[in-house]
Amino acid sequence: MTLTTNIALTALIASAALASPVGNVRRDSAAAPICNLAWSNSGMQAKTDCTGAVVLFSDPLIPDPRVDGQRANGTTGEIMAYLSVGTVNPLYAPDPRLLDYQWQQNLDKNSEGELWGDFWFNPDDLNDHILPIMKDIISSYRALNYTAISTDNAKPSTAVTENDAQAKAYADTERIDPRYVEYLKNIIDFAHSLDMEVALKNPSYYVNEPTVIDEFDAYLVESLFNWYPWDIDVYGSLPYGPKPFWIFQYPGVNGLTNQELHDRMVERNLSKVYLDSEDGYVSYYAF
Ligand SMILES: *[C@@H]1O[C@H](CO)[C@@H](O)[C@H](O)[C@H]1NC(C)=O
Ligand SMILES: *[C@@H]1O[C@H](CO)[C@@H](O)[C@H](O)[C@H]1NC(C)=O
Ligand SMILES: *[C@@H]1O[C@H](CO)[C@@H](O)[C@H](O)[C@H]1NC(C)=O
Repeated sequence: MTLTTNIALTALIASAALASPVGNVRRDSAAAPICNLAWSNSGMQAKTDCTGAVVLFSDPLIPDPRVDGQRANGTTGEIMAYLSVGTVNPLYAPDPRLLDYQWQQNLDKNSEGELWGDFWFNPDDLNDHILPIMKDIISSYRALNYTAISTDNAKPSTAVTENDAQAKAYADTERIDPRYVEYLKNIIDFAHSLDMEVALKNPSYYVNEPTVIDEFDAYLVESLFNWYPWDIDVYGSLPYGPKPFWIFQYPGVNGLTNQELHDRMVERNLSKVYLDSEDGYVSYYAF
């Protein structure tokens, strides 16, 4: 089955708008609604209705008046900055010094079938060379009143494991290379020293790293289906407690149908995801 018509998608969006959270709503997603202005597959994230959001998630390189307002007033709510800690894109480098450490190109493709254009860092450079630059970036975000960062690309990818035997050996056993674990621990400790929080994006595999998995303040999952389908399997197996666990879902990608999304959410006892749409992200409740 594939999602073949716009009618099907429209129906999905409409049900998302009308459905309300009743019954078994997870405490975390209900307690910390997030507005993702940082990224989406549709490119329409800026249209997201941020009314009621406790966390504004933004890319510091993409201005948004809502973020500016929150930043200047600095009173309620969180502002979380998108930060890719494992890669740098030469077109969007948050610090030009990172360009000195481009290593292997990210071979993942976007929805247009094109490369994203970012490069991975050599795992051997993470703690000695990349970390000090990341600390400067995080400090600069703190000065801009950001209260949290999210760690995009926080673990070795195919491009890394194909070019580094140690990273591959760990990935083969569903572990994270200790160089990444140490690096992430250093980033968390530094952010916490500035009174900032850290969200881990795509926590699968990190659940097998007990020295660091519980140190994060929130978790993000990008899609239950296509790129990281196993991420949702870690939900509930962890002592996450009330920490936010936000799930962003792309409808229609890889043939995802309304029914499949609904069934998967019910099967996982997952009430709510944020659905990528032409109107930005909308809350979608399976029950
Ligand atoms: C589903 O999750 C809710 C909390 O969100 C919990 O109260 C309930 O026991 C869960 N049900 C199952 C079958 O795990
Ligand atoms: C700060 O908040 C007030 C009231 O919520 C709002 O009117 C004002 O525009 C905000 N400041 C900025 C710079 O957006
Ligand atoms: C950060 O917030 C404070 C108020 O808490 C405000 O005075 C300051 O201008 C803000 N900084 C920026 C860069 O918006």
